[in-house]
Amino acid sequence: MKGHFIPRLFFIAFILLHSRYAALDTLYANQELKDGNTLVSGGEMFELGFFSPGKSKNRYVGIWYKKISYGTVVWVANRETPITDRSGVLKLSQHGNLVILGGHHNNVVWSSHSTLFGWSNNSVVVQLLDSGNLVVRNKNENSTDQSFIWQSFDYPGDTLLPGMKFGKNLVTGLQRFMTSWKSPDDPSMGVYSNVHDTNGYPQTFSVKSGVILARLGPWNGLGFSGFPVENENQIYTTKFVMNKKEIYHTYELKGAVVQRVILTWDGKTLFLHWIERIKDWIVYTNAAVDTCNSFSLCGPHGICSINKQPPCSCMQGFEPKNPEEWEASDWASGCKRKKPLNCGQEDGFWKITRVKVPDTRRSWHNESMTLGECEAACKSNCSCTGYTSIDIRNGGSGCLMWLDELLDTREFDVNQDIYIKTAASELQGLVNSQSDLSNKKILTLVLLTSAAVTLFFAMAHAYRKKKKKSHMTKQGRWNVHDEKEHLDDLQFFSLYVVARATSNFSVSNKIGEGGFGPVYKGVLEDGREIAVKRLSETSQQGLDEFKNEVICIAKLQHRNLVKLLGYCIHQNELILIYEYMANKSLDRFLFDETKSLMLNWPQRFNIIHGIARGVLYLHQDSRLQIIHRDLKVGNILLDGDMNPKISDFGLARKFVGHDTSVKTKKVVGTYGYISPEYAVHGRFSIKSDVFSFGVLVLEIVSGMRNKEFSNGDNSDNLLGHAWKLHKEGKSIELMSASLHDSCVVSEVLRSIQVALLCVQHHAEDRPTMLSVVLMLVSEGALPEPKQPAFFNEENRRQVESLPSVDKGIITLVYAR
Ligand SMILES: *[C@@H]1O[C@H](CO)[C@@H](O)[C@H](O)[C@H]1NC(C)=O
Ligand SMILES: *[C@@H]1O[C@H](CO)[C@@H](O)[C@H](O)[C@H]1NC(C)=O
Ligand SMILES: *[C@@H]1O[C@H](CO)[C@@H](O)[C@H](O)[C@H]1NC(C)=O
Ligand SMILES: *[C@@H]1O[C@H](CO)[C@@H](O)[C@H](O)[C@H]1NC(C)=O
Repeated sequence: MKGHFIPRLFFIAFILLHSRYAALDTLYANQELKDGNTLVSGGEMFELGFFSPGKSKNRYVGIWYKKISYGTVVWVANRETPITDRSGVLKLSQHGNLVILGGHHNNVVWSSHSTLFGWSNNSVVVQLLDSGNLVVRNKNENSTDQSFIWQSFDYPGDTLLPGMKFGKNLVTGLQRFMTSWKSPDDPSMGVYSNVHDTNGYPQTFSVKSGVILARLGPWNGLGFSGFPVENENQIYTTKFVMNKKEIYHTYELKGAVVQRVILTWDGKTLFLHWIERIKDWIVYTNAAVDTCNSFSLCGPHGICSINKQPPCSCMQGFEPKNPEEWEASDWASGCKRKKPLNCGQEDGFWKITRVKVPDTRRSWHNESMTLGECEAACKSNCSCTGYTSIDIRNGGSGCLMWLDELLDTREFDVNQDIYIKTAASELQGLVNSQSDLSNKKILTLVLLTSAAVTLFFAMAHAYRKKKKKSHMTKQGRWNVHDEKEHLDDLQFFSLYVVARATSNFSVSNKIGEGGFGPVYKGVLEDGREIAVKRLSETSQQGLDEFKNEVICIAKLQHRNLVKLLGYCIHQNELILIYEYMANKSLDRFLFDETKSLMLNWPQRFNIIHGIARGVLYLHQDSRLQIIHRDLKVGNILLDGDMNPKISDFGLARKFVGHDTSVKTKKVVGTYGYISPEYAVHGRFSIKSDVFSFGVLVLEIVSGMRNKEFSNGDNSDNLLGHAWKLHKEGKSIELMSASLHDSCVVSEVLRSIQVALLCVQHHAEDRPTMLSVVLMLVSEGALPEPKQPAFFNEENRRQVESLPSVDKGIITLVYAR
């Protein structure tokens, strides 16, 4: 008996010792961490140890998340020198050098090359902090940044964590940049990097094998000139620091949201947020997706506009340097001056508004000069080609002056202007050509608005061009596809198959009337249920919407978007085939007295959340940005488990880039869901979808239709009513009575408040869909909504009296 007992005690003691050891965050001088053991940060956020990435058998020392997203690696020490077996050991020398030993001869495979100067007395420790930073420090000193002998935050890999500095230490020369992994199985340095360039005024480049792919514009006080930064409802703050000692960007989280920025092995820079509810990361922004983002696409003195076809044009006073190439869509050689500068008082400046400023590598700056002083300085310096304010806040301050050709300028939805040095004679000509310019603008507008047919031509055009010059559209994926290519992604169904599946389009199979024709239920030979949308033969609008739908959703895949399975084209027949949604559309439930009882609060909250995720995917996750433009209860379909799927992309518009606020003459959408700026000014953007989403949420919570809302003699609509209740602290009264038994009051109130933020009058006050998703899942305090947009009586009458208000769909032509 005794003989049995002792070893077991031993064993238990070993386990205890072992697990105690594993939970430590600190390693002392001359202590070892063997492969298999780990350090865990104080709050258990991160863990450090040996690991093998993907399918690889190699061993690396890395840091990964522990509490959430377990195993997602954020930093690797011996990226280039893996150990091929499990002999690896991490060790801290008494002088503060962190080393990894391994292999046959216990060689040093990696070292931090850090040393504590002066006496060491074994007083050094290495500690894994809860920020994900691994630091070597003197154990007697406080853990402040300055006292670290070495820190992993100084050597980022493919991941930037909050608090990391991205940029340069001017004293030590240390440059902190991001480099991609070679592959998901190999953390050694790949071909992509993101670098903060400090030549001239600092800016960030995306580089592939030494070639600049894209440029994140310089910091303008609010954000990057060329990258949107959300000001309200923001989850994190981005900071830019430039002084004599260092130049860097850093970001810090405001709430409890976990975020990381990653440069993927295939070159994408993604901003990811962890969503606890779904236990997954969602992509906030994918930085480089559009044509104009391609570095210097339009060459020197060219301007790139994503909404134009072709995207490149010359700055005022310039003409193509090589007209033939330019015509053939090779814009690389850019533009030259029509008239040379005199270098003196004869020259003037041409102002370009709303731009991402040109490449600042050859520039000069002074932070305390005014714009007037800047102009004078530029005028009196013959090398100066243009100037702008450094900081665009409070009307602008500082002086940024270019001393070379202006590269990589693009139109952008940011409040920054630049002034281009132009011969005075050219400026005089400008007055005449101004009307020319606005004519062109109108033409662009018409082109943009005349629906999908034009889009097709434009795309086909771009496609032909691509054949000639394949390099130019490397990143402009969207304009290289023609319709055939879209259809290639989809399964073709013969008319015979479709007719059989729907009992020859029998009336008893008809389940509804979509945007452009009847919809039938069908069953394929293999038993799969499908929904068949048949384009009515006479409908021209239908044809446009049909094509639009194909372009928009052929490549989209998301569990909250209805899936397009295939198509059928046979003589005049145009048919789209979708997955069948057993519970049809949300409005069948929501506004029906008995059926609405079948939708309890957890289901409704799930639906709200699903729609938000679907719209977020359209806005930000997919390669191309899509604005749905017709989000409404009738376009939300429900599957057998009441999961929502967004459908009907007939009116959706596709965009690349972030400058996606477009004006249109023809306003399409559904009354009750249209945002004011769109209804009145024809200006739509992702924020118009956010508005419609807000209306949707209020309808889901209240079970009432916005456009049919009545509240006795009160002339409010649903939005105004909801806002008043919110102001009076009585939001809960908005909730449908049928939810009394199932509701979670905090979730209901949160949904209402988020909805009210979405329907605020000014588009810029409304959150993005990302914020919406985060606000729905988080528990933190929400911003206070401002007054919502609601048509007052007069506006309402105006809209209702428009001739084209028909079956709830309005198509109005706006007058300037
Ligand atoms: C190390 O020991 C020496 C001599 O005992 C002492 O003078 C010195 O201050 C110690 N250094 C540290 C960092 O503790
Ligand atoms: C270190 O922390 C202690 C306790 O928080 C504080 O009293 C001391 O002033 C700190 N020392 C330094 C050098 O910051
Ligand atoms: C920046 O401009 C201010 C005001 O004109 C001037 O006093 C200062 O010397 C300039 N600084 C540099 C570095 O040129
Ligand atoms: C123009 O200004 C830059 C920056 O101050 C300076 O380096 C350059 O010498 C100036 N050129 C002339 C011709 O004055």
